[in-house]
Amino acid sequence: MCGIVGYVGRAEAMGTILEALGRLEYRGYDSAGMAVLNGRAIQVCKRTGKLKVLAETLRAKPLAGTVGIGHTRWATHGEPSEANAHPHTDCRGELSVVHNGIIENYAPLKARLLEQGHRFRSHTDTEVIAHLIEEYAKHAPLPSAFRRALKDLQGSYALCVLFRREPGRLFGARKGSPLIVGVGKGEALFASDVTAFLDRTRTVVYLNDDEVVELAAKGPTITTLAGKAVTRKSSTVSWDVSAARKEGYDHFMLKEIHEQPQAIEQTLFNRLDVGRRRIAFDRRTQRFLDRISAQEKIVIIACGTAYHAGLVGEYMLEEFARLPVDVDFASEFRYRGPMLDRRTTVIAITQSGETADTLAGVRLAKRKGANVLAICNVMGSSIAREADAVLYTHAGPEIAVASTKAYTAQLTALLLVTLALAKAHGRVRPEAWKRLLAELGRLPDLVRQALATEPALEEIAAKYARARNFYYLGRRYNYPSALEGALKLKEICPLIHAEGYAAGEMKHGPISLIRQGWPVVFVAPRTPVSEKVISNIEEVRARRGTCLVVASEGDDDISRYADSLVRVPRTDELFSPVLVAVPLQLLAYHIARANECDIDQPPNLAKSVTVE
Ligand code: G6P
Repeated sequence: MCGIVGYVGRAEAMGTILEALGRLEYRGYDSAGMAVLNGRAIQVCKRTGKLKVLAETLRAKPLAGTVGIGHTRWATHGEPSEANAHPHTDCRGELSVVHNGIIENYAPLKARLLEQGHRFRSHTDTEVIAHLIEEYAKHAPLPSAFRRALKDLQGSYALCVLFRREPGRLFGARKGSPLIVGVGKGEALFASDVTAFLDRTRTVVYLNDDEVVELAAKGPTITTLAGKAVTRKSSTVSWDVSAARKEGYDHFMLKEIHEQPQAIEQTLFNRLDVGRRRIAFDRRTQRFLDRISAQEKIVIIACGTAYHAGLVGEYMLEEFARLPVDVDFASEFRYRGPMLDRRTTVIAITQSGETADTLAGVRLAKRKGANVLAICNVMGSSIAREADAVLYTHAGPEIAVASTKAYTAQLTALLLVTLALAKAHGRVRPEAWKRLLAELGRLPDLVRQALATEPALEEIAAKYARARNFYYLGRRYNYPSALEGALKLKEICPLIHAEGYAAGEMKHGPISLIRQGWPVVFVAPRTPVSEKVISNIEEVRARRGTCLVVASEGDDDISRYADSLVRVPRTDELFSPVLVAVPLQLLAYHIARANECDIDQPPNLAKSVTVE
């Protein structure tokens, strides 16, 4: 969702900003633009469509200058158009603004500014910011006018402002949307995500909400909205730039599917010690988990794929740690007046650490006195910094919009937490403990074996590529797997409607649609309820539906009912969602590929949903 870049330094801003925006393309966008200061004037160029359209225009008519701002827009207020694309300028071309987030009170602000004689060129909420600063600048120096304008804004924002009369500096601020500073040699950058500038610097300064930044080539000066100076140390990002490249794969999604064994290894690293039969965490997380009593209530909040990981977590934690668990979409949790207190642990699961609803849920939970653990992939992200403790998944940067390796890493993190709590509360016998840890240690290898299903899935995908409706069914731990399988397909193949269902619920509705050739994906590894799944398969076959079954190796009972079959290694039900995720991801990928879909950047979707 909207990408922001700002550059101040010695290099040509245009090329630097274009490259950085290119690395943010994965976030999803529909138009792009840039403003560069050439010493005398701010020049602006904006285009709808892909970044390459903007790049072509700029190649024909370059913008010269070493300070500038850029943006990829994902429309919220006003259709995707050149006029609505960022940057937005004031009436006189004195300043230019790029913005991520939503200004909720833009309508009254705009009415006031129109009355004061300002001329608007777009239908966006963002443009009010430019005119508001212009208005306050009539009576105050630009930086103070910027600060004054921020105080009028309600909603969320990450902002970058370029002033014509402040040639060596950029101004930025954040509230509820990510904005990060990168400090390089003789240059500094703003970005909504570190991947934007990883090739120039790995030294970053994270900003908090309600902070204002003046960014010069030598680095940032941070103050609070009230004007108090803030001292903030820089951090070093451990990801390197190669992690954010395709490295020979046709798509980031495929690369990330294949990176899952390493991602899981990274999640287990330094935490699982099979030889010494222990699971341990960093001090802060360990202390956090040690405080969870056997009477604790757990609430898991998340969105999208992370929500599906949370649903699997519910089965794990209830069955093994015997703790009561509720799982909520973060967007529902925050509006339903949840009952929380100091004996509630809220687990927020998020790849990006920036999803607006999950962040708001974390803040609500903290206000109500609950303890918050984040399971998060992006270091230094807002949720990671606001939670009481963080379990980083360390899956490396995930670029494709459809989440794959972050999901299986989240499941792995939940396995670690579940087993650690089960042990701490005396819920697991020594023999079982030993066996479960050994199996957890084997997960990366089992996932490697599951990846070997790819050629078979490519063939299966070719067979089903023309179908336009799919059901995905599963039970217990693999009911969420079915939801996730369906989500993968509908995310990356917008031609197809796919729906996940609890297999036992099929008779309460979906079955009425099954007819000749309707594909039903059964997520059916060997579990104590396999017989029930076989009955469901029979019911689909009786209506001439086509059954694609994801089964366990050696499970011949189920195989004979399948029209198409893929097998994953046999394991405990507890671990099976990690293994079945792989063929479901590959199936979605190859169906989307056969349909020539834009796999890494599906239309209308965004990687990081930073608006509510
Ligand atoms: C978007 C992404 C999904 C992701 C969801 C939650 O919808 O496209 O891949 O699962 O947001 O994001 P988070 O970063 O909080 O896990």
